[in-house]
Amino acid sequence: MSLLRKPPLCPVHGCELVLSHHGKKSNLGHYFVEVVGAPLLYCPLCLEKGKDTSVEIEPAASNAFLKRLVQVLESSEFPGLLNKPKIRVDFNPSKTALEHPYGRGVTTSVGPIAQAGPAAPTSDEAEETRLDGIEPVEPRHTLNQLILDQDTLERIREATNVLVSQDLIYATWGLCSVARTGRRVALNFYGPPGTGKTLAADAIADLLGKKILRISYAELESKYVGETPKNIKAAFAKATETGALLFFDEADSILGKRLVNVAQSADNSINVARSTTLIELDNFNGAVIFASNLVKNYDTAFLRRMLAHVEFRLPATDQREKIWRCHIPRQLPLADDVDFEVLALYSEGAAGGDIQNAVLLAASYASMRLGAEQLVMLADLKRAIAFLLDGKRKILEGDHGLDDRKYQWS
Ligand SMILES: Nc1ncnc2c1ncn2[C@@H]1O[C@H](COP(=O)(O)OP(=O)(O)OP(=O)(O)O)[C@@H](O)[C@H]1O
Ligand SMILES: [Mg+2]
Repeated sequence: MSLLRKPPLCPVHGCELVLSHHGKKSNLGHYFVEVVGAPLLYCPLCLEKGKDTSVEIEPAASNAFLKRLVQVLESSEFPGLLNKPKIRVDFNPSKTALEHPYGRGVTTSVGPIAQAGPAAPTSDEAEETRLDGIEPVEPRHTLNQLILDQDTLERIREATNVLVSQDLIYATWGLCSVARTGRRVALNFYGPPGTGKTLAADAIADLLGKKILRISYAELESKYVGETPKNIKAAFAKATETGALLFFDEADSILGKRLVNVAQSADNSINVARSTTLIELDNFNGAVIFASNLVKNYDTAFLRRMLAHVEFRLPATDQREKIWRCHIPRQLPLADDVDFEVLALYSEGAAGGDIQNAVLLAASYASMRLGAEQLVMLADLKRAIAFLLDGKRKILEGDHGLDDRKYQWS
């Protein structure tokens, strides 16, 4: 790979651009292919100000490489794996083998980037695919489907009321003139997985009579270096244009502290994405909700911009009982021994999402039986929830071979 002999200068600051190997592209639509170490040049001063002026060196070659790699993967079989493998390709010259997290599957070593196949998309093509397929949708839940403790429900109601009473508060009572942030309302929902954060955002959109534009950070992470900030801007623009409630799921990576030493840290593009989100938030006049599992390490700039932080806790026994009840459809054949009080006591530590999955699993156990036995019994539901909680426990205790950081939430 030929690098430029003399680094070009930043058009804004006139300083020399810095070479970094922390560019990152991922192809999330197909396989989870993450390419790190794609060399790029960036201006540290622009980065400070949240502007993304980084330029990837030889993007056509690495994009083409990525395309070719996906083609090869699509024609390959991965026996014994339930999921498509996650693959990380390092462009670092000293490290050119495909890394497979499970140590099996694809182990072919990768040739030089210059041998890559078809040409990369033109910038016009990239423009067309930005936020492709992500449109605001009608909400499917209502607030009365949300089973939470009184305290959390009250906090949600209070926070949401600012949105409901926006016209009165901002226009009639004139708070618009003193609010530095315009009419923007940003809320942060945090707590363990499966506790109803996404459901609550959906229900709030319903309450406001708005559509919801659901964006996950993974969807924003573009295949092409430098596209993520553009996607963030596109998300805010789409919410403004359509009047939809903007909902950022898996917002941990956006809300975290910006990395101080870019050269040594994981990825300068993370910093750019965070800074872009802050700028877009400041210019946004609508309603935005961030949901995250991780509550540590928040960037104070984000904390300051949120109107309210609402903690979603694991359900207590009486809430678990209601959640069990409301996840059993009328048509599901239930044995007489199913007792929701017993299930509530038995499922301590379960989130609503676990209960939803347990019902599905128990129904699947029942469907494997025949005749009069083909109905869901208490033992099925107990076995399913125990199985799920046991799996979760193992993951949280680190007995799994996965990346621990993804599963921390407090
Ligand atoms: N508090 C709750 N009340 C009623 N149902 C719930 C509740 N929490 C979870 N559920 C059930 O679990 C499903 C998954 O919950 P949801 O996706 O809202 O959780 P989450 O907090 O957004 O999880 P994650 O952090 O993994 O994104 C919901 O669609 C609903 O069926
Ligand atoms: Mg969610």
